[in-house]
Amino acid sequence: MTKSHDESATPVHLARIGGDGIGPEVVDAAVRVVDAVCGDRIEWVDAEMGWRTFERTGSALPEATIEVLEGCAGALFGAVSSPSHAVDGYRSPIVELRRRMDLYANVRPLRGGAVDAVVVRENTEGLYSGRERWEREGEVAVAERVISRLATERIVHFACELAQSRAGHRGRRPLLTVVHKANVLRLSDGLFRETALDVASGFPEIEVEEQLVDSMVYRMILEPERYDVIVAPNLYGDILSDAGAALVGGLGIVGSANCGERFCLAEPVHGSAPDIAGRGIANPIAAVSAAALLLQRVGLTRQAVRVGELVAGHHKNGPRTPDQDGDATTGDVVGDLLRRV
Ligand code: NAI
Ligand code: MG
Repeated sequence: MTKSHDESATPVHLARIGGDGIGPEVVDAAVRVVDAVCGDRIEWVDAEMGWRTFERTGSALPEATIEVLEGCAGALFGAVSSPSHAVDGYRSPIVELRRRMDLYANVRPLRGGAVDAVVVRENTEGLYSGRERWEREGEVAVAERVISRLATERIVHFACELAQSRAGHRGRRPLLTVVHKANVLRLSDGLFRETALDVASGFPEIEVEEQLVDSMVYRMILEPERYDVIVAPNLYGDILSDAGAALVGGLGIVGSANCGERFCLAEPVHGSAPDIAGRGIANPIAAVSAAALLLQRVGLTRQAVRVGELVAGHHKNGPRTPDQDGDATTGDVVGDLLRRV
């Protein structure tokens, strides 16, 4: 866990990376809100990555950016555009960054109505291990799904600590739901299941349950309010995260965080939205929610709670951007949030 900066006077260094499309618009908006709440507790450092960076420098993730990030406790990132066709030398900077900074936990809170859950997704292996190959002269494609005891231990440990920190949220014991498909994938998901239950048994105050991934999707849609912390291998977690985002109001309002031991990269779950870029109508709430996760993770707990309250206030009676069926601009939403500070 990151140490608490709450009571110390030195500013926390955070990087801001706008990226492409609406990325810079929503990151700027979120930074204004964070600064209004945190004052001089944060020092922002600018860094770049993405498609425009690639076109200019030949690299989507320049070494200079990595150097900036290594001097920071975390980063607020907008989104990058990726070409839909393969381009020589271009690799997704976000995937690369997760690997370089070992951001092993992907955290996505789902909040809205009676729903108050968090999906914790293993971010480094599983079906996204990057091990794919052709067989039989291109007639068969094989992807290897890697589950390791170590990676499972640390993701479940992370999820248990998160569950513990949320104790009291739902007025009952914290609940950890372990998602797998061990009845079919007996070795790989078998190892995930066994390791997860073993780690969780070290947290006696947490109620632990397991759920097969297909029935998990079914139940999460029917009764999302019963869940608290959900932990899953990479692909299942990816799918559950996006399904969950749809349950609580959509791309424009949900944030996520990629966490490692020493660094956290927070981002809205949406992409660069080229269809609305530059028009000043992007919903900044997803980026503001991501910023709250970042503050929490770098130890600015009080400020994180405050930003979370601002978002909750916005949901109650704030101005609505077009994606939420209103006609407010990004600036209107930010202005309203700043008035509430
Ligand atoms: P997208 O999330 O950018 O957009 C999907 C739809 O949602 C669009 O109609 C867009 O206008 C709308 N939307 C998204 N965010 C919004 C916001 N904050 N306010 C209002 N409306 C919003 O996904 P899409 O169109 O599939 O991808 C566009 C580009 O973004 C692609 O180049 C893709 O590779 C990239 N992308 C990047 C991600 C990242 O950097 N983490 C994640 C997803 C996509
Ligand atoms: Mg996804």
